[in-house]
Amino acid sequence: MRIVKLISETQSIISEYKANGKRVGFVPTMGALHKGHLSLVAQSKRENDITVVSIFVNPTQFNNLNDLKTYPRILDKDLDLLSEYEPDLIFIPEAEEVYPEPDTRVFNFGDIEKVMEGKNRPGHFNGVAQVVSKLFDYIRPNNAYFGQKDFQQVAVIKQMTKNLELDINIVACPIIREVDGLAMSSRNMLLSKVERKNAAKISETLFKACNLVPDFSVSQLKEWVIAEINNNAYLEVEYFEIVDDTNLKSIEKWDDSDNRIACITVQVGKVRLIDNISL
Ligand code: PAF
Repeated sequence: MRIVKLISETQSIISEYKANGKRVGFVPTMGALHKGHLSLVAQSKRENDITVVSIFVNPTQFNNLNDLKTYPRILDKDLDLLSEYEPDLIFIPEAEEVYPEPDTRVFNFGDIEKVMEGKNRPGHFNGVAQVVSKLFDYIRPNNAYFGQKDFQQVAVIKQMTKNLELDINIVACPIIREVDGLAMSSRNMLLSKVERKNAAKISETLFKACNLVPDFSVSQLKEWVIAEINNNAYLEVEYFEIVDDTNLKSIEKWDDSDNRIACITVQVGKVRLIDNISL
């Protein structure tokens, strides 16, 4: 398990792997690792000769300065967890090297970035695309692994890969949940004990919602989910959308799409959590 900070050193190690015909899997992360991240590492190890993990809290994707400040940074624990999975290379670049000058690139993802997270966190996906395109350029992976919890992020990254004509396979991996159903997230560790307990209501409601299709109409189900969650004093729904999983357009009736996904963002105290489920 090599730990490297410099971009040039990372690039030369990767070139050597490539020269030896190795297939490279890449797991980009912002650290504060949990079992969700580790499942991506495990999958990459199964499917590639070499697995590279990056840990970099990317400043350009935070539209809220306080969110960037409070984002958990626990590198020693992250390295400990990763040592059990033994990725070949851990890349931990410095912000000054990734962004020697402000990145002014503006990406266009069409309609898929205009809804949900894109609408509620202006500039977020542009920042994600800035950093992921840079990381892809340094690592040049064959496969890159992302968690399906960030469903819209996966759609945006697939679109970016297509727009930039990169020969990289984007692999979406299943959401990993806590025993009580809460989707694993680095932000969960920012919840107080009582918030953490109540946060389980989010996934519990999504699971119940699955059983109400098609008896409830789309609008009835939306109202029901929002009311159910907002009924809990610790939770406040920011948005709940039911969309087609390819074009991310909201559906109005169940027949509008064969592949429907329900996406939710909930404010739990100061912490913003997202989750989704196939309906
Ligand atoms: O999903 C994340 O952790 C981040 O958005 C990513 C993909 C590592 C880019 O900073």
